[in-house]
Amino acid sequence: MRAWQISSFGIDSLEFVERPTPTPGPGEVLVGVRAVSYNYRDLMVVKGLYNPKMKLPRIPCSDAAGEVVAVGADLTKWRAGDRVAGIFMQNWVDGPLTAAKARGALGGDIDGVLADYVVLKEDGLVGIPDHLSYQEGATLPCAAIAAWNGLAAGELKPGATVLIQGTGGVSIFALQFARLKGARVLGLSSSQEKLERAKAMGLDAGLNYRDNPEWDLWANEQTGGEGVDLVVDVGGAGTLARSLRAIRPGGTVAQVGALAASTDPFPIPLIIHKTARIRGIYVGSRKDFLDMNRAIALTEMRPVGEAFDWSQAREVFKFLEEATHFGKLVLTVS
Ligand SMILES: NC(=O)c1ccc[n+]([C@@H]2O[C@H](COP(=O)([O-])OP(=O)(O)OC[C@H]3O[C@@H](n4cnc5c(N)ncnc54)[C@H](OP(=O)(O)O)[C@@H]3O)[C@@H](O)[C@H]2O)c1
Repeated sequence: MRAWQISSFGIDSLEFVERPTPTPGPGEVLVGVRAVSYNYRDLMVVKGLYNPKMKLPRIPCSDAAGEVVAVGADLTKWRAGDRVAGIFMQNWVDGPLTAAKARGALGGDIDGVLADYVVLKEDGLVGIPDHLSYQEGATLPCAAIAAWNGLAAGELKPGATVLIQGTGGVSIFALQFARLKGARVLGLSSSQEKLERAKAMGLDAGLNYRDNPEWDLWANEQTGGEGVDLVVDVGGAGTLARSLRAIRPGGTVAQVGALAASTDPFPIPLIIHKTARIRGIYVGSRKDFLDMNRAIALTEMRPVGEAFDWSQAREVFKFLEEATHFGKLVLTVS
């Protein structure tokens, strides 16, 4: 099979290699990968920032969609030709996360999916909704489920207000799922053009966070001084204090990302005074993926992004680094 791998850290160190095509053992499925999507985590993996002690060489990336090519002996759950996507943590099938389930994340603990074949566990994949292309299906395993569970953490009623940060993979899915829940959505971006694109998708109001660093005040103004019900926070240390100022008393911050650094002290008084709920999100289980796919299929929701040929794997990592994208960056395996 062909794969992109890193033998040392760095985008320019990605190398296109031939490896033996794996054979599925008992309880395993061989998937012919048709498309792969990037997540910010993959960029961190490749640059050596996610786990500097990661054993190399490693095939990066967690998110792929493709076609079942072969199955292990006696396996009846999947058949050749099934359209599938892998799940992020191969061991997290259902129920709450445990230490054991957290091991086995694709493109982190184990080799990932930036290859034309991958072997997955029989419970390590799901079918993709019929109306989606492989490129669209490949966007779902990480960012979409994180957004889905981020929204779920808010326990929202229709008419609630959600604030999203930026216009990357997680945030655009959060916009789409918030709209499905009948929520009003406020959004931040460093780009007016991206805000306009988000408005065309249903964003109710947007603000440039570079020009308006006190966006928490704006969020409060937008909600009549009450504060929003939920912030889907992708900034982390650099945004958490403002997210806490932006929520209503008793509101929720779904802590998904860590894009923005800060040396400010952890905002304990704000957590207390807002009686805030901060919910850490770490992707989700196979069951979450199935629940999300049901909603995507029912509403014929389509992921948003841009696809490139996988010969451009290095360039597309640079696009991710420059953050010029909107939604997801996808590679078509040719
Ligand atoms: N916990 C989980 O399960 C999980 C799952 C997926 C991702 N993540 C994490 O979530 C974060 C986002 O991931 P992603 O894949 O969506 O990344 P992405 O597609 O690269 O999106 C990045 C976007 O975030 C926005 N952004 C950056 N700094 C910001 C700031 N200070 N305030 C507001 N927005 C800011 C920018 O949007 P504009 O260009 O519009 O300004 C940027 O384009 C990363 O930290 C990633 O590791 C976590």
